[in-house]
Amino acid sequence: MPYTVPKLTDFSTAALDNAARELLSALKQESEAVASENDWKAFRDRWMARKNGILTQLNDLWLKASPGPGKREVGQRVNELKTKIEPTVDATLARIQSAASSGKLAGERLDITLPGIRRPLGAEHPIIKTMNEIVGVFRNLGYSVEEGPEIETDYYNFEALNFPPNHPARDTQDTLFIAGQDSKPPRDRLLLRTHTSPVQIRTMQKTKPPVRVVCPGKVHRNDAPDATHSPIFHQVEGLAVDTNITFCDLKGTLDHAMKALFGSSVKTRFYPSFFPFTEPSADVQISCIFCDGKGVRDGAPCRNCKASGWIELLGCGMVDPNVYGFVDYDATRVSGFAFGMGVERIAILKYGVDDIQLFFQGDIRFLEQFG
Ligand code: DAH
Repeated sequence: MPYTVPKLTDFSTAALDNAARELLSALKQESEAVASENDWKAFRDRWMARKNGILTQLNDLWLKASPGPGKREVGQRVNELKTKIEPTVDATLARIQSAASSGKLAGERLDITLPGIRRPLGAEHPIIKTMNEIVGVFRNLGYSVEEGPEIETDYYNFEALNFPPNHPARDTQDTLFIAGQDSKPPRDRLLLRTHTSPVQIRTMQKTKPPVRVVCPGKVHRNDAPDATHSPIFHQVEGLAVDTNITFCDLKGTLDHAMKALFGSSVKTRFYPSFFPFTEPSADVQISCIFCDGKGVRDGAPCRNCKASGWIELLGCGMVDPNVYGFVDYDATRVSGFAFGMGVERIAILKYGVDDIQLFFQGDIRFLEQFG
């Protein structure tokens, strides 16, 4: 039952004490129940409205009704109650306003038994990890690190690397070109770089020999994704140009790098190949790490090397003198080698991953194995 102001008939001190106590207890209860600004307005009007608010009723039902001799005491009581009602109404408003500004809802308490927020530790993505490892091997040999843009011009991606004008790699079948550039001269047309080799050109343009750099980065090809192909993948490019650099230096460097990456028992083999920007060119094969180069594992032909005992891993060669012509290096004075390797391919072999797509799907169950 909500509180109503009683009509007093007994004006003794004891009866007034009692009536005041009841009123103050109702005031306290109602104040505590106020949970919103709207609640508070109703509360304020109920107690303080000029017309028929509880304070006004006290004047009518207590003060005016009291017999002459006791009026003074009743008047004092009513004033006393007034000095309690007004501050209580003000304090109630202050309470809900401070609750609202601290974001606390009515009745909300801090629950210290709630579990905390667990933030799992992040880990390097296996591709970044492998890329850093490759770069680390060459850093230890004194190479520095260069990066280039992923959106390249035809000039850096192909022309300055000695690709002939109608080389198949320049076709939209293989390369992702930016649309709407028909009005530009072919060499200025933008594309997503298909390899990190353009960083060789950018480096030689801004640095005089000797040069020793590795260039890690992302590359793009117009390939449909499957277990061994991805339209986005990563490479680490290498370039060393100086006086008197020979194929022997290339072999020694890459043999060392493969041993550093796959273990000292790994052997390397250089197989004749062709790239427009190197002459001669080679593919580097390593002895199969699954069957130790035997071609046979557990009595059956090794599936990883198709029973050959060798796994093809990267391309390399001696920088073609034509390339020096594009960067103003004197081909009669300097020589050098270059190489390029696929990071996913190396990670797949190192970690025994059977599907390249796993690197790009963001499945935490796969990724956390590399933490
Ligand atoms: N750019 C080549 C590719 O993506 C890889 C490559 C081969 C890089 C030979 C080189 C190199 O620097 O000398 O297939």
